[in-house]
Amino acid sequence: MIEPVSGPDATGAGGGNAHDARSAALRDFARYINPQKVRVLKAAGLDLIEGAREGVWVTDLDGRRFLDCFTSAGSFNIGRRHPRVVAAMHRAVDSLDHGNFLLCSAQKAELGAKLAEITPAKLTCSTFGTGGGEAVDFALKLARGATGRSKIVSTVNGYHGHTGFALSAAGRSAYRASFEPLMPGFDQVPFGDVGAARAAIDGDVAAVIVEPVQGEGGVVVAPDGYLAELREACDASGALLVLDEIQTGFGRTGRWFASEHSGVLPDVMTVAKSLGGSLVSISATIYTEELREFLIPNPFVHLSTFGGSDLACVIALETISVIEDEGLVENASVMGAKLLAGLEELRSAHPEVMEEVRGIGLMCGIKYREDSMGPRMSFQLARHGVLAVYTGNDPSVMRIMPPLVITEGEVAFLLEALDAAMRDLASGAGTESTAPSGPRRRPQRQPASS
Ligand SMILES: Cc1ncc(COP(=O)(O)O)c(C=O)c1O
Repeated sequence: MIEPVSGPDATGAGGGNAHDARSAALRDFARYINPQKVRVLKAAGLDLIEGAREGVWVTDLDGRRFLDCFTSAGSFNIGRRHPRVVAAMHRAVDSLDHGNFLLCSAQKAELGAKLAEITPAKLTCSTFGTGGGEAVDFALKLARGATGRSKIVSTVNGYHGHTGFALSAAGRSAYRASFEPLMPGFDQVPFGDVGAARAAIDGDVAAVIVEPVQGEGGVVVAPDGYLAELREACDASGALLVLDEIQTGFGRTGRWFASEHSGVLPDVMTVAKSLGGSLVSISATIYTEELREFLIPNPFVHLSTFGGSDLACVIALETISVIEDEGLVENASVMGAKLLAGLEELRSAHPEVMEEVRGIGLMCGIKYREDSMGPRMSFQLARHGVLAVYTGNDPSVMRIMPPLVITEGEVAFLLEALDAAMRDLASGAGTESTAPSGPRRRPQRQPASS
């Protein structure tokens, strides 16, 4: 029988049975979900169980507090459990549920209008889903349906999720290999290589799908002019340009959407993750009225029972209001510049560990000298009160993507922790044990101010 993880310790307050609660959760996770996942996380010092979550901070069941720089790969732009969004959820559940997907909904209509307002020009129509993969699947279905063409071009090391069309576009063979044959007609070109893209985009291509900043690919910002070249090649061949803003959207890069840095207008944009305000699962595929023509004869050709549920739409609307009211897009730009400058200083101080600093706004990455340094730095950073994880397609790159509500004091805390972690990496400190032992351990420093 499964022993429930409950009681005061599950809130993250720590206490007598905290360590037992953590052990029980890990034991049952290994038994009923996946033991290898537990082993891998343990080796990287990430075998923690989240308890209390607030703003940029998460406290584990052992009472250890971490600044969250992973944020579920960019899902917590407004911070965790933002009080306004929590309150909106409380209000919403007093009268709503997820709603009947077949009927029209006031909440869906309001969110559709808001997305049309904040996304680039001409993207005025939305289809909602539950997660990023679903949004990408629909984007590629729409591209095939609307153009009558079948080929899709994506990029090497690109990441679009693990559902059918999205997985077929995945730029990493390890994700695809066991599931072949996937969708036919998918082709990958190196990210940033204009010549390769132009050669691939012929008259049979329905769409090119690309992330403005490759997240899982190692936080690789599209080179200057790349998106504009893709736009031009798509226009010349009649293909659609799909920008996957699932990680980069909602202020992450210091603009509402990362494509705005280049001024390139996509035909279709996918969003998810932070739209759910850390509380619900919701995604959207946003496209032009011209493309919507494909759906006019048959508005029921694509359906999702839970996509854009009434509750999720209320949360998404409140999340967008928080980003607007708190100036989080601007804060991402200002704090991102401070963080990137601080990371460059650390690179000068630790050239044996850090090879390169990458990023834009608060979507930052550190490229380490060796692949193994990604997991080892996760381990060291956890000891110093920072939750950070290397990217899925490049273990030598650590993503630093804190919530956009981060303060200057918290940026300073993060930089100090990175500095200390790199010194400890060199000395091997803390590697005698991969599990927290005995009493609760606290991060060695607290933020200077917040
Ligand atoms: C750029 C991008 N697209 C798509 C996805 C898939 O989203 P989901 O995991 O919600 O299906 C992700 C997830 O990390 C992503 O980063």
